[in-house]
Amino acid sequence: MAIDQAVIEEIKFRNSIEDVVSQYVTLKRAGSNLVGLCPFHSEKSPSFTVFVNEGNCHCFGCGAGGDVINFIRRIENLDYPSAVEFLAKRAGITVTRSDDDKREARRRERVLEMNKLAARFFYETLMSPAGSEGYDYLTRVRGLSNAHIRHFGLGFAPNDFGALTGLLRSKGYADHEMATAFLCGVSTKTGRPYDYFRNRVIFPIFGISGDVIAFGGRVMDDSKPKYLNSSDTPAFKKSRNLFAMNFAKNYCSEQLILCEGYMDVIALHCAGFTNSVATLGTAITPEHARMLKRYTKKVVISYDSDEAGQNAADKAFRLLGEVGVETKILRMSGAKDPDEYIKKFGSESFRKIIDSSETEFDYKFGKIMKKYDFSITGDKIKALGECENLIAATPSAAERDIYIFDTAPKLGITPDAMKRDIERIIASKKRNAEREEVRKIITSSEGYGDRVNPDYVKNPRAASAEEAMLGILMLHPEYLSELSKKGDPLSADEMFTELGKKICSALISIISAGAPDESALEGLLGEYLTVEETERAMRMRISRRMLTNNTPAVLIECKRSLKEAKSKNELDISDIISQKRERSRQNRENN
Ligand code: CTP
Ligand code: MN
Repeated sequence: MAIDQAVIEEIKFRNSIEDVVSQYVTLKRAGSNLVGLCPFHSEKSPSFTVFVNEGNCHCFGCGAGGDVINFIRRIENLDYPSAVEFLAKRAGITVTRSDDDKREARRRERVLEMNKLAARFFYETLMSPAGSEGYDYLTRVRGLSNAHIRHFGLGFAPNDFGALTGLLRSKGYADHEMATAFLCGVSTKTGRPYDYFRNRVIFPIFGISGDVIAFGGRVMDDSKPKYLNSSDTPAFKKSRNLFAMNFAKNYCSEQLILCEGYMDVIALHCAGFTNSVATLGTAITPEHARMLKRYTKKVVISYDSDEAGQNAADKAFRLLGEVGVETKILRMSGAKDPDEYIKKFGSESFRKIIDSSETEFDYKFGKIMKKYDFSITGDKIKALGECENLIAATPSAAERDIYIFDTAPKLGITPDAMKRDIERIIASKKRNAEREEVRKIITSSEGYGDRVNPDYVKNPRAASAEEAMLGILMLHPEYLSELSKKGDPLSADEMFTELGKKICSALISIISAGAPDESALEGLLGEYLTVEETERAMRMRISRRMLTNNTPAVLIECKRSLKEAKSKNELDISDIISQKRERSRQNRENN
C-alpha cells in the first residue's frame, strides 16, 4: 500500500465530504443529506447527493461519486496518490510517499531541471550573435523590447541538431530523459537524439509557481508548422496550464482576459493588461474552466476575429458557463487579433473595447442578425427561429422576458407571439429531455454503451448476480471467510465480467489483508481500480445497502445463480453471433 491507512483516515476525517464538495457544488439540505447539481454531468434538477454521515456522495443521474478522495480524483482529474496529497495539503497534513511516488517525483524534477537549463540556453542564444535572427524578429518585426524579452524569458533555438542535446548530455542527462522532457526527438535511423526545437523563437511556459514546464517555438517566417509545442511530460499537461498564468494570477481576481495566442498575451502584458492568459495550442478544456473559476470572477474572451476564433468562443462560453464564471466576449473590428489591434489602435482603445465587451446573449443575437437578410421573408423567419431557440436556452424566466421585449421589435413581431413560441420550444425540449432520460435508463440497465463494464450486456443475468455478490461482500467483508469455512470459497475467476473479476480480486486482496471498515474500503479499491471502476463498485454497494436481506445465504444464492447463468452464457453468446451472421446475410441479400 502506497500511503498508510491511518494517514488516509486522518485525511478523510479532516476533509469532511460536505466541506469539500461544497467548494465545487452548491448544496442544499434534504433530510439528513445534501443535494446539488451534479458537477460531472449537465442537469437541471439536482441528483447529486452527499451522504454526510457516511462520508460519501453519489449522483443518481450519472453514477459518479464516492468518498472524498474519489470525488477529488474525479473533479480535479488526479490519480489516487495525487488526490490524497491534494486533500492532505488542504488539511495541512504531510504525507510520506512510497518509492513509486518518489520515482515519479524525481522524474518530474529532472524534467524541470532540464527545462531550466534549456530556457537559459535559449535565452542566452537569443542574446548572443548566434541568435541575431531571432532577436531581430522579436524586436524589429514584433516590436518587443529587451525588458519584455527578459520578462517572458523568450529565447532562440539555433538551427542545429545537437546544440541543446549536447549541452544536456554534458550535464549528465540521459537521452531518454531528454526525450521524456520533449526537448529532443529520437532518430529512427540511428536511435540518436536530436534537438526538437530548431531555428525558432522560443516561448517558455511557466507553471503557476514559476517553474519552466514546457516550451512553444515559433518560426520566423510563413513556414509550417507555425508553432511547435512540448507535448505532455511528467511536469506538464497542456489541458491544465495556461500561458502567462504565473504572471496573471495576481492581477485577475476581478477580470481575466483569455486569448488564443502567445503573441497576443505578450502584447497585452506589455500594454499593461497583466491579467491576460492564453491556452497552449489547444481549445479551452473543462480543466481550464475550473482553474479559471478559482482565480477570477469574470472572463473576457479575446479570441481572433476569424471564424476559427469565433467557433472556439462558443466552446469557451459553454465551458465557463458550466462552472459559473461570468463570461463576456470582446468585439474587435479592424484587426485579426488583440496583438494586431493594440499595435494599430493603441492600448486605450483596447481598454474601451474590453469595457464594452458583450454578454453571451448579445453576442449570439448579433451573430444571428448579421447572418440574415431581413428584406427576405424566408431569412427573417429563420432568424426568428434561431433567436427563439437562443432565448429558450436561458434558464431564468425573468431574463427570458427581458430578451423577448428587447428583441421582438428588432425582429418586427409582437412580444406575445414570441413568448408563445418560446414556451412551446421549452415544453418540447422538456419532453425530449424526459424521453432521453428514459432511454438512458433503459439502455444503461441493459448495459448497452456501458464503457466501464462492456461485458454486462453479454449476459445481464450473470452480471447482475455478480454485482449483487460484490455489493454484499463490500457491505460484509467478513462473509468472505464464512464462505471459505462453508467449503465454498469465493474466487475472482467465478465472476462473469472482466470488471467483476477485477473488483473481486481487489476485494479478496484487501479483505485478506485485514477486513477494512466501510469508509476505508473505497480508498483501498481506488488503488486497484480506475475512478470509473471504483464508482461502479460503490454503486454496487449502494444498491445493496438499500436492501435489507444482505445475509450470507443471499450471497450464496447469488453465487449459485451466477454459476447457472454463466453456464448458459456460452449458448447465449453463440446465439448472438449466429443471429448477427444471419442478419448481415439478410442485409447482403436485400442490397
Ligand atoms: N498554435 C499551435 N500550433 C500552430 C498554430 C498555432 O500550437 N501550428 C497555437 C499557439 O499556442 C498559438 C495559438 O495557437 O499561440 C494561436 O495561433 P495564432 O493566432 O496563429 O498564433 P499567434 O500566437 O497569435 O501568433 P502570431 O501573432 O505570431 O501569428
Ligand atoms: Mn494570432
